[in-house]
Amino acid sequence: MTLDAAAIAVFLEEVRAADLAGPDAAEAFRIHWLGRKGRMKDILEAFRDVPGPEKREMGQHINGLKAAIEARLAEALAAGATERVQAAVQEDWSRPSGAVLPGTHHPISRVRREICTIFESLGFAIAEGPEIEDDWHVFSGLGFPPEHPARDMQDTFFIADSPGLLLRTHTSSVQVREMETRQPPMRIIMPGRVFRNEAISARAHCMFHQIEGLCIDEGVTFADLKQMLLHFAQAYFGPQARIRLRPSYFPFTEPSAEVDVYWGLETEVDRRITKGTGWLEILGCGMVDPDVLAASGIDPERYSGYAFGMGIERIAMLRHQIGDLRAFFENDVRFLHQFTGAAG
Ligand code: DAH
Repeated sequence: MTLDAAAIAVFLEEVRAADLAGPDAAEAFRIHWLGRKGRMKDILEAFRDVPGPEKREMGQHINGLKAAIEARLAEALAAGATERVQAAVQEDWSRPSGAVLPGTHHPISRVRREICTIFESLGFAIAEGPEIEDDWHVFSGLGFPPEHPARDMQDTFFIADSPGLLLRTHTSSVQVREMETRQPPMRIIMPGRVFRNEAISARAHCMFHQIEGLCIDEGVTFADLKQMLLHFAQAYFGPQARIRLRPSYFPFTEPSAEVDVYWGLETEVDRRITKGTGWLEILGCGMVDPDVLAASGIDPERYSGYAFGMGIERIAMLRHQIGDLRAFFENDVRFLHQFTGAAG
């Protein structure tokens, strides 16, 4: 099939002219266009061969056709449904009611659970901390003294009337709490919700989720960190996953890096969320700065460790092909019900 604007116009005309009187005709129409072997399937297959530069426009034409099909079906089914409901009321009072959909795990909970399970299998324990925090745990204890410009990396919500209290901007605060209360060796994974004063868009939100990791022991090196991250990426994204580390800066790690995972460029969503590169940044990491260890009561002469922090939404977007971050927070059941199946 050659797919062009003229072909779509012919299809549209057919859709508009179809006779949908009665539920049988409506059902036949649905199967003809949207069924498993329906024409929409052929159209989508032909769409794959449309050259890149024309894809956008052709995509819009196809969406228009699909909307027209759905609109006609909605009309026809509304008419058919009244007929059927009437028949049911008059003739069969024992008919079963419509299906009640079971609840599902929110995709964020699901991804968090999957990631934690990978780290638990490596011997990491889970810890949590408060969302309303003090300055020490979010900033100062992590090497961001007052006035440090790196504080601007994270636009903070402060709590009115409670000086010194704020909504945590990252789960790194839980690292500080854990280092203060435990002694190495420690391997901990810390999931949680974080808050930043950012404008809401398809790629940013004022509330999101992170998972923090911390490993401290004698003789822990950057090589351990890198190997563990590669293991994680392959366990989560599949054995073909590749990672790359880019030098970066965080006040509480030295050296520091940002990690990208290569996912590929197979779909429009891949293209959108990786800005056309195929690589997506998923986490920040580094070797915990000896001063940070010492500030929390751990002897930096004896121990060393690595830390990392990743964004759950980003990982979920990549893994489940979700192009707009806002979908996670709108709780539209049509979105949520796509994530059925087992999750803890
Ligand atoms: N807390 C950082 C952020 O939210 C991410 C991060 C970077 C966490 C490096 C770490 C780390 O534990 O070592 O941007």
